[in-house]
Amino acid sequence: TGPALFGARVNSRGFDLTDAGHLAAIEAARAPFATQRFEAGPMIAGRPAGGLRVEVRNPATGDLVGHVVQAGAPDVETALRLAEPWAAAVPERAEVLRRVADLYEAEFGAIFALLAREAGKTLADAVAELREAVDFLRYYADGAAGLTAPARGVFACISPWNFPLAIFTGQIAAALAAGNAVLAKPAEQTPLIAGLAVGLMHKAGVPVTALQLLPGEGPVVGRMLTSDPRVGGVCFTGSTETALMIRRAMAAHLDPTAPLIAETGGLNAMLVDSTALPEQAVRDILASSFQSAGQRCSALRCLYVQEDVAETVLEMLSGAMDELALGDPWDLTTDVGPVIDAEAAGTIRDHVAAARAAGRVVKEMAAPVAGTFVGPAVIRVDGIAAMTREIFGPVLHVATFRADEIDRVVDAVNATGYGLTFGLHTRIDDRVQRIVERLRVGNTYVNRNQIGAVVGSQPFGGEGLSGTGPKAGGPDYLTRFTRAEVAQVAA
Ligand code: NAD
Ligand code: ALA
Repeated sequence: TGPALFGARVNSRGFDLTDAGHLAAIEAARAPFATQRFEAGPMIAGRPAGGLRVEVRNPATGDLVGHVVQAGAPDVETALRLAEPWAAAVPERAEVLRRVADLYEAEFGAIFALLAREAGKTLADAVAELREAVDFLRYYADGAAGLTAPARGVFACISPWNFPLAIFTGQIAAALAAGNAVLAKPAEQTPLIAGLAVGLMHKAGVPVTALQLLPGEGPVVGRMLTSDPRVGGVCFTGSTETALMIRRAMAAHLDPTAPLIAETGGLNAMLVDSTALPEQAVRDILASSFQSAGQRCSALRCLYVQEDVAETVLEMLSGAMDELALGDPWDLTTDVGPVIDAEAAGTIRDHVAAARAAGRVVKEMAAPVAGTFVGPAVIRVDGIAAMTREIFGPVLHVATFRADEIDRVVDAVNATGYGLTFGLHTRIDDRVQRIVERLRVGNTYVNRNQIGAVVGSQPFGGEGLSGTGPKAGGPDYLTRFTRAEVAQVAA
Protein backbone atom coordinates (compact mmCIF):
# COMPACT_ATOMS: atom_id res chain seq x y z
CA THR A 1 0.00 0.00 0.00
CA GLY A 2 3.00 2.34 0.46
CA PRO A 3 3.64 3.83 -2.96
CA ALA A 4 -0.07 4.21 -3.74
CA LEU A 5 -0.40 6.58 -0.80
CA PHE A 6 2.19 8.92 -2.27
CA GLY A 7 0.88 9.55 -5.79
CA ALA A 8 2.89 10.72 -8.78
CA ARG A 9 3.62 14.44 -8.33
CA VAL A 10 6.74 16.50 -8.45
CA ASN A 11 6.72 16.67 -4.65
CA SER A 12 5.76 13.66 -2.60
CA ARG A 13 2.36 13.82 -0.96
CA GLY A 14 3.43 11.77 2.05
CA PHE A 15 0.81 10.68 4.53
CA ASP A 16 -2.18 12.39 6.10
CA LEU A 17 -1.83 11.79 9.84
CA THR A 18 -5.46 12.77 10.43
CA ASP A 19 -6.58 9.90 8.19
CA ALA A 20 -7.26 6.67 10.11
CA GLY A 21 -6.48 4.57 7.03
CA HIS A 22 -3.05 6.15 6.60
CA LEU A 23 -2.29 5.73 10.31
CA ALA A 24 -3.29 2.07 10.20
CA ALA A 25 -1.03 1.53 7.15
CA ILE A 26 1.88 3.15 8.98
CA GLU A 27 1.32 1.13 12.15
CA ALA A 28 1.19 -2.13 10.17
CA ALA A 29 4.28 -1.28 8.11
CA ARG A 30 6.54 -0.25 10.97
CA ALA A 31 5.43 -2.90 13.49
CA PRO A 32 7.86 -5.58 12.19
CA PHE A 33 10.73 -3.14 12.88
CA ALA A 34 9.74 -2.23 16.42
CA THR A 35 12.39 -4.44 18.01
CA GLN A 36 14.56 -5.46 15.06
CA ARG A 37 18.31 -5.03 15.57
CA PHE A 38 19.81 -3.13 12.65
CA GLU A 39 23.43 -3.43 11.46
CA ALA A 40 25.49 -0.97 9.41
CA GLY A 41 29.12 -0.48 8.51
CA PRO A 42 31.47 0.72 5.82
CA MET A 43 30.46 -0.31 2.31
CA ILE A 44 33.55 -0.10 0.13
CA ALA A 45 33.10 -0.96 -3.54
CA GLY A 46 30.18 -3.12 -2.41
CA ARG A 47 32.06 -4.97 0.33
CA PRO A 48 31.72 -4.59 4.10
CA ALA A 49 34.85 -3.48 5.96
CA GLY A 50 35.93 -1.67 9.10
CA GLY A 51 36.91 -2.39 12.65
CA LEU A 52 35.32 -1.35 15.93
CA ARG A 53 31.66 -2.43 16.35
CA VAL A 54 29.68 -0.05 18.56
CA GLU A 55 26.16 -0.03 19.94
CA VAL A 56 23.46 2.37 18.79
CA ARG A 57 20.81 3.09 21.42
CA ASN A 58 17.36 4.68 21.31
CA PRO A 59 17.60 8.17 22.87
CA ALA A 60 14.06 7.93 24.29
CA THR A 61 14.31 4.53 25.94
CA GLY A 62 17.98 3.54 26.04
CA ASP A 63 17.06 0.31 24.20
CA LEU A 64 19.54 -1.23 21.81
CA VAL A 65 18.65 -0.39 18.18
CA GLY A 66 21.61 -2.11 16.57
CA HIS A 67 25.33 -1.89 15.91
CA VAL A 68 27.61 0.01 13.59
CA VAL A 69 31.06 -1.03 12.46
CA GLN A 70 33.23 2.09 12.30
CA ALA A 71 35.39 2.90 9.32
CA GLY A 72 39.05 3.60 10.07
CA ALA A 73 41.88 5.23 8.18
CA PRO A 74 42.67 2.15 6.01
CA ASP A 75 38.99 2.00 4.91
CA VAL A 76 39.04 5.65 3.86
CA GLU A 77 42.21 5.00 1.88
CA THR A 78 40.71 1.97 0.10
CA ALA A 79 37.48 3.84 -0.65
CA LEU A 80 39.41 6.73 -2.16
CA ARG A 81 41.42 4.33 -4.33
CA LEU A 82 38.35 2.46 -5.60
CA ALA A 83 36.03 5.45 -6.11
CA GLU A 84 34.84 5.83 -9.71
CA PRO A 85 32.73 8.74 -10.92
CA TRP A 86 29.37 7.62 -12.30
CA ALA A 87 29.97 7.47 -16.03
CA ALA A 88 26.39 6.57 -17.07
CA ALA A 89 24.55 9.05 -19.30
CA VAL A 90 22.38 11.66 -17.56
CA PRO A 91 19.01 9.99 -18.36
CA GLU A 92 20.21 6.73 -16.83
CA ARG A 93 21.49 8.43 -13.68
CA ALA A 94 18.21 10.30 -13.36
CA GLU A 95 16.23 7.11 -13.82
CA VAL A 96 18.18 5.34 -11.08
CA LEU A 97 17.69 8.26 -8.66
CA ARG A 98 13.94 8.20 -9.33
CA ARG A 99 14.02 4.46 -8.62
CA VAL A 100 15.72 5.20 -5.27
CA ALA A 101 12.85 7.58 -4.46
CA ASP A 102 10.33 4.84 -5.25
CA LEU A 103 12.22 2.35 -3.06
CA TYR A 104 12.33 4.82 -0.15
CA GLU A 105 8.56 5.23 -0.41
CA ALA A 106 8.05 1.47 -0.57
CA GLU A 107 10.21 0.96 2.54
CA PHE A 108 8.43 3.59 4.66
CA GLY A 109 7.80 1.13 7.50
CA ALA A 110 11.50 0.44 8.16
CA ILE A 111 12.39 4.10 7.59
CA PHE A 112 9.79 5.47 10.03
CA ALA A 113 10.80 2.86 12.60
CA LEU A 114 14.48 3.75 12.41
CA LEU A 115 13.85 7.50 12.39
CA ALA A 116 11.97 7.08 15.67
CA ARG A 117 14.28 4.55 17.30
CA GLU A 118 17.67 5.88 16.21
CA ALA A 119 17.03 9.63 15.78
CA GLY A 120 14.13 10.23 18.20
CA LYS A 121 11.84 11.54 15.44
CA THR A 122 8.11 11.84 16.04
CA LEU A 123 5.91 10.35 13.35
CA ALA A 124 5.04 13.81 11.96
CA ASP A 125 8.75 14.60 11.67
CA ALA A 126 9.50 11.21 10.12
CA VAL A 127 6.80 11.67 7.48
CA ALA A 128 8.18 15.13 6.63
CA GLU A 129 11.72 13.79 6.51
CA LEU A 130 10.89 10.94 4.13
CA ARG A 131 9.02 13.37 1.87
CA GLU A 132 11.99 15.73 1.81
CA ALA A 133 14.42 12.91 0.95
CA VAL A 134 12.19 11.70 -1.87
CA ASP A 135 11.71 15.27 -3.13
CA PHE A 136 15.48 15.84 -3.23
CA LEU A 137 15.98 12.64 -5.24
CA ARG A 138 13.36 13.55 -7.85
CA TYR A 139 14.24 17.24 -7.97
CA TYR A 140 17.94 16.59 -8.61
CA ALA A 141 17.11 13.77 -11.06
CA ASP A 142 15.06 16.32 -13.04
CA GLY A 143 17.76 18.99 -12.66
CA ALA A 144 20.53 16.72 -14.01
CA ALA A 145 19.03 17.07 -17.50
CA GLY A 146 20.05 20.74 -17.54
CA LEU A 147 23.72 20.10 -16.68
CA THR A 148 26.29 20.63 -19.39
CA ALA A 149 29.54 20.66 -17.38
CA PRO A 150 31.43 17.52 -16.30
CA ALA A 151 31.50 16.08 -12.78
CA ARG A 152 34.22 17.14 -10.36
CA GLY A 153 35.32 13.57 -9.66
CA VAL A 154 35.10 12.43 -6.04
CA PHE A 155 32.82 14.27 -3.62
CA ALA A 156 32.88 13.86 0.16
CA CYS A 157 29.36 14.19 1.59
CA ILE A 158 29.39 14.80 5.37
CA SER A 159 26.03 15.01 7.12
CA PRO A 160 24.46 15.73 10.55
CA TRP A 161 22.22 13.55 12.71
CA ASN A 162 19.21 15.88 12.80
CA PHE A 163 18.10 15.03 9.24
CA PRO A 164 19.76 11.63 8.98
CA LEU A 165 17.75 10.65 5.91
CA ALA A 166 16.80 13.90 4.14
CA ILE A 167 20.11 15.75 4.29
CA PHE A 168 22.17 12.56 3.94
CA THR A 169 20.18 11.71 0.81
CA GLY A 170 20.02 15.25 -0.62
CA GLN A 171 23.79 15.68 -0.58
CA ILE A 172 24.40 12.29 -2.18
CA ALA A 173 21.64 12.67 -4.77
CA ALA A 174 23.02 16.03 -5.94
CA ALA A 175 26.61 14.77 -6.21
CA LEU A 176 25.51 11.61 -8.04
CA ALA A 177 23.10 13.43 -10.35
CA ALA A 178 26.09 15.48 -11.53
CA GLY A 179 28.06 12.28 -12.18
CA ASN A 180 30.50 12.32 -9.25
CA ALA A 181 31.68 9.44 -7.10
CA VAL A 182 30.48 9.91 -3.51
CA LEU A 183 32.16 9.02 -0.23
CA ALA A 184 29.36 9.42 2.30
CA LYS A 185 30.17 10.11 5.97
CA PRO A 186 27.02 10.07 8.13
CA ALA A 187 26.89 11.51 11.65
CA GLU A 188 28.17 9.26 14.45
CA GLN A 189 24.72 9.25 16.09
CA THR A 190 22.74 8.00 13.06
CA PRO A 191 24.69 5.41 11.05
CA LEU A 192 21.87 2.84 10.86
CA ILE A 193 19.47 4.95 8.81
CA ALA A 194 22.44 5.81 6.55
CA GLY A 195 23.19 2.10 6.08
CA LEU A 196 19.56 1.42 5.18
CA ALA A 197 19.52 4.32 2.69
CA VAL A 198 22.77 3.29 0.97
CA GLY A 199 21.47 -0.29 0.68
CA LEU A 200 18.39 1.03 -1.14
CA MET A 201 20.50 3.25 -3.41
CA HIS A 202 22.65 0.30 -4.45
CA LYS A 203 19.56 -1.87 -4.92
CA ALA A 204 18.12 0.79 -7.25
CA GLY A 205 21.23 0.63 -9.43
CA VAL A 206 23.72 3.21 -8.11
CA PRO A 207 27.11 1.57 -8.84
CA VAL A 208 28.93 0.40 -5.73
CA THR A 209 32.10 2.29 -6.74
CA ALA A 210 30.10 5.50 -7.31
CA LEU A 211 28.65 5.44 -3.78
CA GLN A 212 30.64 4.19 -0.79
CA LEU A 213 29.66 4.50 2.85
CA LEU A 214 32.14 5.44 5.59
CA PRO A 215 30.48 5.64 9.02
CA GLY A 216 32.94 6.75 11.68
CA GLU A 217 34.33 9.56 13.76
CA GLY A 218 34.34 13.08 12.31
CA PRO A 219 37.88 13.89 13.43
CA VAL A 220 39.11 10.65 11.79
CA VAL A 221 37.01 9.86 8.70
CA GLY A 222 35.75 13.41 8.07
CA ARG A 223 39.16 14.90 8.64
CA MET A 224 40.84 12.45 6.22
CA LEU A 225 38.24 13.05 3.51
CA THR A 226 38.58 16.82 3.70
CA SER A 227 42.39 16.67 3.67
CA ASP A 228 42.94 14.36 0.70
CA PRO A 229 43.80 15.93 -2.65
CA ARG A 230 41.95 13.12 -4.48
CA VAL A 231 38.69 14.69 -3.21
CA GLY A 232 37.37 17.21 -5.71
CA GLY A 233 34.70 18.82 -3.53
CA VAL A 234 33.06 18.66 -0.11
CA CYS A 235 29.36 18.92 0.67
CA PHE A 236 28.90 19.47 4.41
CA THR A 237 25.95 20.15 6.68
CA GLY A 238 26.54 20.59 10.39
CA SER A 239 27.84 23.10 12.87
CA THR A 240 29.57 26.32 11.91
CA GLU A 241 32.61 25.29 13.99
CA THR A 242 33.08 22.07 12.01
CA ALA A 243 32.62 23.92 8.71
CA LEU A 244 35.43 26.29 9.68
CA MET A 245 37.68 23.33 10.52
CA ILE A 246 36.87 21.76 7.17
CA ARG A 247 37.63 24.98 5.33
CA ARG A 248 41.05 25.13 6.97
CA ALA A 249 41.77 21.46 6.19
CA MET A 250 40.74 21.93 2.55
CA ALA A 251 42.82 25.08 2.19
CA ALA A 252 45.92 23.20 3.33
CA HIS A 253 45.47 20.07 1.23
CA LEU A 254 42.92 20.26 -1.58
CA ASP A 255 42.99 21.85 -5.00
CA PRO A 256 42.17 25.52 -4.30
CA THR A 257 39.28 25.34 -6.78
CA ALA A 258 37.60 22.42 -4.92
CA PRO A 259 34.24 23.72 -3.70
CA LEU A 260 33.03 23.57 -0.11
CA ILE A 261 29.24 23.61 -0.01
CA ALA A 262 28.49 24.17 3.67
CA GLU A 263 25.09 24.50 5.35
CA THR A 264 25.57 25.34 8.99
CA GLY A 265 23.95 26.71 12.13
CA GLY A 266 21.82 29.73 12.92
CA LEU A 267 20.70 32.18 15.60
CA ASN A 268 17.26 32.57 14.12
CA ALA A 269 14.83 35.28 15.20
CA MET A 270 11.14 36.02 14.79
CA LEU A 271 9.52 39.43 15.13
CA VAL A 272 5.87 39.66 16.21
CA ASP A 273 4.38 43.17 16.12
CA SER A 274 1.17 44.45 17.66
CA THR A 275 -0.80 43.99 14.43
CA ALA A 276 -0.15 40.24 14.32
CA LEU A 277 -2.90 37.73 15.06
CA PRO A 278 -1.83 36.33 18.45
CA GLU A 279 -3.35 32.86 17.94
CA GLN A 280 -1.58 32.45 14.63
CA ALA A 281 1.70 33.83 15.98
CA VAL A 282 1.60 31.49 18.99
CA ARG A 283 0.89 28.46 16.79
CA ASP A 284 3.91 29.35 14.62
CA ILE A 285 6.18 30.17 17.59
CA LEU A 286 5.34 26.78 19.07
CA ALA A 287 6.15 24.87 15.87
CA SER A 288 9.26 26.92 15.10
CA SER A 289 10.73 26.50 18.60
CA PHE A 290 9.70 23.08 19.82
CA GLN A 291 8.91 20.83 16.86
CA SER A 292 11.71 18.27 16.42
CA ALA A 293 12.61 19.18 20.05
CA GLY A 294 14.13 22.38 18.63
CA GLN A 295 16.79 20.35 16.81
CA ARG A 296 16.49 22.10 13.46
CA CYS A 297 19.02 24.56 12.10
CA SER A 298 16.00 26.60 11.00
CA ALA A 299 14.40 26.65 14.48
CA LEU A 300 13.40 29.86 16.22
CA ARG A 301 15.89 30.79 18.93
CA CYS A 302 15.04 34.42 19.77
CA LEU A 303 11.52 35.83 19.67
CA TYR A 304 11.11 39.60 19.57
CA VAL A 305 7.58 40.55 20.60
CA GLN A 306 6.28 44.12 20.64
CA GLU A 307 5.93 45.21 24.25
CA ASP A 308 2.24 46.23 23.94
CA VAL A 309 1.25 42.62 23.13
CA ALA A 310 4.02 40.75 24.92
CA GLU A 311 1.98 39.77 27.97
CA THR A 312 -0.88 38.40 25.86
CA VAL A 313 1.39 36.47 23.51
CA LEU A 314 3.50 34.98 26.31
CA GLU A 315 0.45 33.98 28.32
CA MET A 316 -1.06 32.23 25.30
CA LEU A 317 2.29 30.61 24.53
CA SER A 318 2.54 29.28 28.06
CA GLY A 319 -0.96 27.81 27.81
CA ALA A 320 -0.18 26.21 24.46
CA MET A 321 3.06 24.71 25.81
CA ASP A 322 1.08 23.03 28.59
CA GLU A 323 -0.70 21.05 25.86
CA LEU A 324 2.53 19.65 24.39
CA ALA A 325 3.00 15.93 25.02
CA LEU A 326 6.59 14.85 25.68
CA GLY A 327 7.47 11.22 25.31
CA ASP A 328 8.62 8.29 23.22
CA PRO A 329 8.37 9.34 19.57
CA TRP A 330 7.02 5.90 18.70
CA ASP A 331 3.82 6.94 20.49
CA LEU A 332 1.44 8.64 18.05
CA THR A 333 0.39 11.29 20.57
CA THR A 334 3.94 12.57 21.17
CA ASP A 335 4.66 16.16 20.10
CA VAL A 336 8.19 16.51 21.47
CA GLY A 337 10.65 13.63 21.56
CA PRO A 338 14.07 13.36 23.16
CA VAL A 339 17.17 15.29 22.15
CA ILE A 340 19.75 13.21 20.34
CA ASP A 341 22.00 12.07 23.19
CA ALA A 342 23.06 12.58 26.79
CA GLU A 343 25.78 15.06 25.84
CA ALA A 344 23.31 17.29 23.98
CA ALA A 345 20.82 17.02 26.86
CA GLY A 346 23.52 18.04 29.35
CA THR A 347 24.52 21.12 27.34
CA ILE A 348 20.93 22.32 26.96
CA ARG A 349 20.03 21.61 30.61
CA ASP A 350 23.12 23.56 31.75
CA HIS A 351 22.03 26.53 29.65
CA VAL A 352 18.55 26.49 31.16
CA ALA A 353 19.97 26.01 34.66
CA ALA A 354 22.19 29.09 34.27
CA ALA A 355 19.17 31.12 33.13
CA ARG A 356 17.15 29.76 36.06
CA ALA A 357 19.86 30.81 38.49
CA ALA A 358 19.76 34.30 36.96
CA GLY A 359 15.96 34.44 37.40
CA ARG A 360 15.36 34.56 33.65
CA VAL A 361 13.28 31.41 33.06
CA VAL A 362 9.65 32.40 32.41
CA LYS A 363 8.38 28.93 31.54
CA GLU A 364 9.78 25.45 31.86
CA MET A 365 8.06 22.12 31.30
CA ALA A 366 8.82 18.94 33.16
CA ALA A 367 10.48 16.24 31.10
CA PRO A 368 10.36 12.43 31.43
CA VAL A 369 13.12 11.30 33.76
CA ALA A 370 14.35 8.36 31.67
CA GLY A 371 15.88 9.02 28.25
CA THR A 372 17.50 12.19 26.97
CA PHE A 373 14.51 14.51 27.28
CA VAL A 374 14.69 18.24 27.91
CA GLY A 375 11.56 20.11 28.96
CA PRO A 376 10.72 22.97 26.56
CA ALA A 377 11.66 26.27 28.16
CA VAL A 378 11.27 30.00 27.60
CA ILE A 379 14.04 32.34 28.75
CA ARG A 380 13.91 36.12 28.95
CA VAL A 381 16.85 37.93 27.30
CA ASP A 382 17.58 41.60 26.63
CA GLY A 383 18.15 40.88 22.95
CA ILE A 384 19.78 38.51 20.51
CA ALA A 385 23.18 40.04 21.21
CA ALA A 386 23.06 38.25 24.60
CA MET A 387 23.08 34.90 22.78
CA THR A 388 26.56 33.95 21.76
CA ARG A 389 25.90 30.45 20.41
CA GLU A 390 23.21 28.21 19.00
CA ILE A 391 21.48 26.17 21.75
CA PHE A 392 20.32 23.17 19.74
CA GLY A 393 17.21 22.12 21.62
CA PRO A 394 13.71 23.13 22.80
CA VAL A 395 14.67 26.48 24.32
CA LEU A 396 13.12 29.76 23.23
CA HIS A 397 14.62 33.14 24.18
CA VAL A 398 12.29 36.13 24.31
CA ALA A 399 12.94 39.86 24.13
CA THR A 400 10.58 42.82 23.72
CA PHE A 401 10.79 45.89 21.50
CA ARG A 402 8.94 49.18 21.01
CA ALA A 403 7.38 50.16 17.68
CA ASP A 404 10.17 52.65 16.94
CA GLU A 405 12.88 50.02 17.51
CA ILE A 406 12.27 47.69 14.56
CA ASP A 407 15.34 48.78 12.58
CA ARG A 408 17.45 48.28 15.70
CA VAL A 409 16.10 44.73 16.10
CA VAL A 410 16.90 43.89 12.48
CA ASP A 411 20.39 45.34 12.83
CA ALA A 412 20.95 43.25 15.98
CA VAL A 413 19.90 40.11 14.11
CA ASN A 414 22.28 40.96 11.25
CA ALA A 415 25.06 41.69 13.73
CA THR A 416 25.10 38.09 15.00
CA GLY A 417 26.88 37.15 11.78
CA TYR A 418 24.47 34.24 11.27
CA GLY A 419 21.74 34.46 8.63
CA LEU A 420 19.63 31.34 8.26
CA THR A 421 15.88 31.87 8.91
CA PHE A 422 13.73 34.76 10.09
CA GLY A 423 10.04 34.78 11.00
CA LEU A 424 7.83 37.84 10.77
CA HIS A 425 4.28 38.26 12.01
CA THR A 426 2.69 41.55 10.95
CA ARG A 427 -0.28 42.84 8.96
CA ILE A 428 1.61 45.87 7.66
CA ASP A 429 2.79 45.27 4.09
CA ASP A 430 5.27 48.17 4.02
CA ARG A 431 6.87 46.79 7.15
CA VAL A 432 7.37 43.39 5.54
CA GLN A 433 9.13 45.01 2.62
CA ARG A 434 11.32 47.27 4.75
CA ILE A 435 12.41 44.43 7.04
CA VAL A 436 13.11 41.99 4.23
CA GLU A 437 15.25 44.59 2.43
CA ARG A 438 17.29 45.29 5.56
CA LEU A 439 17.73 41.68 6.72
CA ARG A 440 20.63 39.47 5.73
CA VAL A 441 19.20 35.97 6.13
CA GLY A 442 18.68 33.14 3.68
CA ASN A 443 15.01 32.27 4.29
CA THR A 444 12.39 34.69 5.63
CA TYR A 445 8.87 33.48 6.38
CA VAL A 446 5.95 35.90 6.83
CA ASN A 447 2.88 35.05 8.91
CA ARG A 448 3.76 31.36 9.16
CA ASN A 449 6.30 29.20 10.97
CA GLN A 450 9.95 29.29 9.92
CA ILE A 451 10.76 25.58 9.62
CA GLY A 452 10.24 22.89 7.02
CA ALA A 453 11.43 24.41 3.74
CA VAL A 454 9.93 22.56 0.79
CA VAL A 455 12.25 21.30 -1.97
CA GLY A 456 11.75 23.20 -5.20
CA SER A 457 9.47 25.92 -3.84
CA GLN A 458 11.55 27.11 -0.84
CA PRO A 459 15.23 26.59 -1.71
CA PHE A 460 17.00 26.49 1.65
CA GLY A 461 20.30 27.90 2.89
CA GLY A 462 21.82 30.76 4.82
CA GLU A 463 24.27 33.62 4.63
CA GLY A 464 27.36 34.56 6.64
CA LEU A 465 28.14 32.04 9.39
CA SER A 466 25.07 30.01 8.33
CA GLY A 467 26.40 28.72 5.05
CA THR A 468 28.10 29.16 1.73
CA GLY A 469 25.16 28.52 -0.57
CA PRO A 470 23.96 27.60 -3.12
CA LYS A 471 20.60 26.76 -1.62
CA ALA A 472 19.65 23.09 -1.32
CA GLY A 473 16.53 22.17 -3.26
CA GLY A 474 17.00 25.17 -5.54
CA PRO A 475 17.92 25.66 -9.19
CA ASP A 476 21.59 26.65 -8.64
CA TYR A 477 22.59 23.76 -6.42
CA LEU A 478 23.65 21.10 -8.92
CA THR A 479 26.08 23.23 -10.93
CA ARG A 480 28.27 23.53 -7.82
CA PHE A 481 28.92 19.79 -8.13
CA THR A 482 30.36 20.23 -11.64
CA ARG A 483 33.39 21.86 -13.27
CA ALA A 484 32.62 24.83 -15.47
CA GLU A 485 34.55 24.17 -18.67
CA VAL A 486 34.19 25.48 -22.17
CA ALA A 487 35.56 23.52 -25.11
CA GLN A 488 35.12 24.86 -28.59
CA VAL A 489 36.28 23.14 -31.74
CA ALA A 490 36.98 25.55 -34.60
CA ALA A 491 34.87 24.89 -37.68
P1 NAD B 1 28.61 18.55 13.63
O1 NAD B 1 29.29 19.68 12.96
O2 NAD B 1 29.06 18.15 14.97
O3 NAD B 1 28.76 17.22 12.74
C1 NAD B 1 28.35 17.20 11.39
C2 NAD B 1 29.18 16.16 10.64
O4 NAD B 1 30.54 16.60 10.60
C3 NAD B 1 29.18 14.79 11.31
O5 NAD B 1 29.10 13.80 10.32
C4 NAD B 1 30.55 14.76 12.00
O6 NAD B 1 31.06 13.47 12.19
C5 NAD B 1 31.38 15.54 10.99
N1 NAD B 1 32.64 16.06 11.52
C6 NAD B 1 32.95 16.36 12.82
N2 NAD B 1 34.22 16.81 12.90
C7 NAD B 1 34.74 16.81 11.65
C8 NAD B 1 35.99 17.20 11.08
N3 NAD B 1 37.00 17.64 11.83
N4 NAD B 1 36.14 17.08 9.75
C9 NAD B 1 35.15 16.63 8.96
N5 NAD B 1 33.93 16.25 9.44
C10 NAD B 1 33.73 16.34 10.77
O7 NAD B 1 27.05 18.87 13.59
P2 NAD B 1 25.86 18.00 14.20
O8 NAD B 1 25.87 18.14 15.67
O9 NAD B 1 25.86 16.63 13.62
O10 NAD B 1 24.58 18.76 13.58
C11 NAD B 1 23.96 19.84 14.19
C12 NAD B 1 24.41 21.13 13.54
O11 NAD B 1 24.08 21.09 12.15
C13 NAD B 1 23.71 22.36 14.08
O12 NAD B 1 24.64 23.40 14.22
C14 NAD B 1 22.70 22.70 12.98
O13 NAD B 1 22.33 24.07 12.97
C15 NAD B 1 23.44 22.30 11.76
N6 NAD B 1 22.54 22.02 10.63
C16 NAD B 1 22.47 22.91 9.59
C17 NAD B 1 21.58 22.70 8.54
C18 NAD B 1 21.45 23.68 7.39
O14 NAD B 1 20.86 23.32 6.39
N7 NAD B 1 21.96 24.89 7.51
C19 NAD B 1 20.75 21.58 8.55
C20 NAD B 1 20.86 20.68 9.62
C21 NAD B 1 21.76 20.91 10.65
N1 ALA C 1 15.33 22.34 5.72
C1 ALA C 1 15.02 22.20 7.11
C2 ALA C 1 14.00 23.21 7.57
O1 ALA C 1 13.67 24.09 6.79
C3 ALA C 1 16.27 22.30 7.94
O2 ALA C 1 13.54 23.14 8.67
